Amino acid sequence: MAGPQWTVLIVDDEPGFRQLLRQILQDKYNLSFAGSGAVALELAQSIRPDLILLDIVMPEMDGYETCNRLKADPTTADIPVIFISALSDSAEIVSAFKGGAVDYVRKPFQNDVVIARIDTHLKLYNLQRHLENRVVEEIERRRLEEQMLIQQSKMAAMGEMISAIAHQWKQPLNTLGLVMQDVEDAFKAGEVDAGYLKEFVSHGMDLINLMSHTVDDFQNFLKPSKHKDIFDVTEAFYEVLRLFSNILKSNAITIAINTPKTHPIYATGYRNELKQVILNLINNSRDAINSARKRGVIKKNGYVTIDIEEAEDKVVINISDNGGGIDNDVIDKLFDAYVTTKGEGGTGIGLYMSRAIIEGKMNGRITASNVEGGARFTIELPTVTQKGDMI
Ligand SMILES: Nc1ncnc2c1ncn2[C@@H]1O[C@H](COP(=O)(O)OP(=O)(O)OP(=O)(O)O)[C@@H](O)[C@H]1O
Ligand SMILES: [Mg+2]
Repeated sequence: MAGPQWTVLIVDDEPGFRQLLRQILQDKYNLSFAGSGAVALELAQSIRPDLILLDIVMPEMDGYETCNRLKADPTTADIPVIFISALSDSAEIVSAFKGGAVDYVRKPFQNDVVIARIDTHLKLYNLQRHLENRVVEEIERRRLEEQMLIQQSKMAAMGEMISAIAHQWKQPLNTLGLVMQDVEDAFKAGEVDAGYLKEFVSHGMDLINLMSHTVDDFQNFLKPSKHKDIFDVTEAFYEVLRLFSNILKSNAITIAINTPKTHPIYATGYRNELKQVILNLINNSRDAINSARKRGVIKKNGYVTIDIEEAEDKVVINISDNGGGIDNDVIDKLFDAYVTTKGEGGTGIGLYMSRAIIEGKMNGRITASNVEGGARFTIELPTVTQKGDMI
């Protein structure tokens, strides 16, 4: 493996010894020489050798000092150093290793032993560098992938928003159209007077305000929560349903929320992100119900049932539907990225992001199972026992 592609820096104050090492090593490596610690430091900086053979006993700067300085400089710290010395005292050897050397060779030495040791350390060093690069590359790759997923899921959420706004606007827009037509008719019939005009403006403004509020609501929905908060879980569900109930209604899906009537249930976490998860789950139920209808599995109304309960130290939310359940093919990898059974109709990141939010950000858990007639997703969230946890 080792060949002249490796550069070895030899540091020794005795010219005769440098000459000896040259003879032994010149066929195998590119060699550079330094007669003192100071020159060694300069050369190490400029040529970046793959390994340094370092004499211990030298005038001015000795080998230990040279090694310390090499290790203190980030540009040379990684270069493996093998001490070469006539010192045989075990304390000396120990301090050589403490100073950051990877090996210690005693003078006089056998040529093939020196070569074998240099080779071994070059290989180790190379392997380590290779592994480090791989790790850095892998981390970068994952970071980019994660960013892309987040971007994609944002785009998906935008798409949902736009179609929900379109739904919410349909009715007020129609009404506004009728009001406009009416003013034309009224004018022809000579009915437009101050009273009519006032009524017309106020009705029109009401409709416009309603549409404007819808946009505000959706904008708020997309905003990430800035910090962990204590919030009413049931209220978060209602906030989602207020925005998306029209879409569900047009899909003939009924949603029921079961929650204790006596007191609110609070959880700790990011409220808007939870709403994002709720929307993902409800959309999945909608898709499952529609696909079950297409396949003739269900004819009746679709339903989604949400049960919110408090257990010892957590809030447990069950979301079940009658969409025929999760395919066996995907049930084990449901929460992985890009797992979808919807072909072009899905990207397979809804549940991946949902898990990242619930488990990665909120210290909770999300699981899935099939129940009678459909799927059930369970979310567990930390309750409000440890306020100290809050960020
Ligand atoms: N309520 C459900 N009933 C049946 N299958 C489900 C249900 N929820 C999820 N699945 C299955 O899990 C798969 C992955 O869901 P996920 O939300 O991650 O992606 P998707 O809905 O396919 O695409 P995306 O959400 O990115 O648009 C779905 O394709 C579907 O097969
Ligand atoms: Mg989905």
